[in-house]
Amino acid sequence: MQIVKTVAEVREAVRAWRAEGLTVGLVPTMGFLHEGHKSLIVRAVAENDRVVVSDFVNPTQFGPNEDLESYPRDLERDAALCEEAGAALVFNPEPSEMYAPDACTFVDMDALTGELCGKTRPTHFRGVCTVVSKLFNIVTPDAAYFGQKDAQQLAVIRRMVRDLNFGLRVVGCPIVREEDGLAKSSRNTYLSADERQAALCLSRAIFAGQKLVEDGERDAATVTEAMRAIIEAEPLARIDYVKMVDFDNIELIDHIADGQPVLCAIAVYIGKTRLIDNFIVE
Ligand code: PAJ
Repeated sequence: MQIVKTVAEVREAVRAWRAEGLTVGLVPTMGFLHEGHKSLIVRAVAENDRVVVSDFVNPTQFGPNEDLESYPRDLERDAALCEEAGAALVFNPEPSEMYAPDACTFVDMDALTGELCGKTRPTHFRGVCTVVSKLFNIVTPDAAYFGQKDAQQLAVIRRMVRDLNFGLRVVGCPIVREEDGLAKSSRNTYLSADERQAALCLSRAIFAGQKLVEDGERDAATVTEAMRAIIEAEPLARIDYVKMVDFDNIELIDHIADGQPVLCAIAVYIGKTRLIDNFIVE
């Protein structure tokens, strides 16, 4: 497995693979990899001849008061996990390799980003769309793998790929959880022991909401109120949002219609750490 720092080295590796007629999968990440990321890499390895993992804490998707500086990093451990999962190349550029000092071109979206995380983090998806577009242009993969953990991001990337004619498949992968239910996240490392325990209110709310829908509840407010009550019972938790939206356009819904893809998403501060979780009604 190669670990490279420059765009030119990625292009060179991909050119050689293409000359052999091999297919290429891409797994974009911000590093500090865990079993959730690994599940994406393993899936990509199963479906492509060669897999590129990008490991880059993308500054343009962090707001001014967010955790860009403190975001955890460990390239050595990441490389070991990628190698074990069967990746062929890890792309770990410096910010200066990805962004010229006078970079002024961005990819943005007029819809899908006004609710959920886009509302709380107004410049976040512009940064995500821009860096993912750049990675698509650098790697030119046949398929790219994203987790349902970041469900709004998955919907945004699908829309961007359609709208901008990126010639690749977007593959969505299920949420990987800790044994006690907490969705795996690089940000879980910020939690103290008490907060780690308190964070279980997210998955408890998700499982309860999912159960209500499975049992036939179709009113969005009934489901989200029941979920809110579970989170509000936890003193260390502060709700950012608990919402139900159409999974295609990320617009709020009142009622779950038959056949409509629905996303129920939550964001909750546990102390200073903001965590997200969700379930999808197919
Ligand atoms: P990051 O948070 O590192 O996540 C990289 C990918 O791993 C995303 O597609 C995310 O949904 C997936 N992932 C994270 N935790 C997961 C879990 N518990 N189960 C399944 N998949 C999980 O998302 C980003 O980075 C960035 O925004 C990025 C797309 C790389 C652009 O910078």
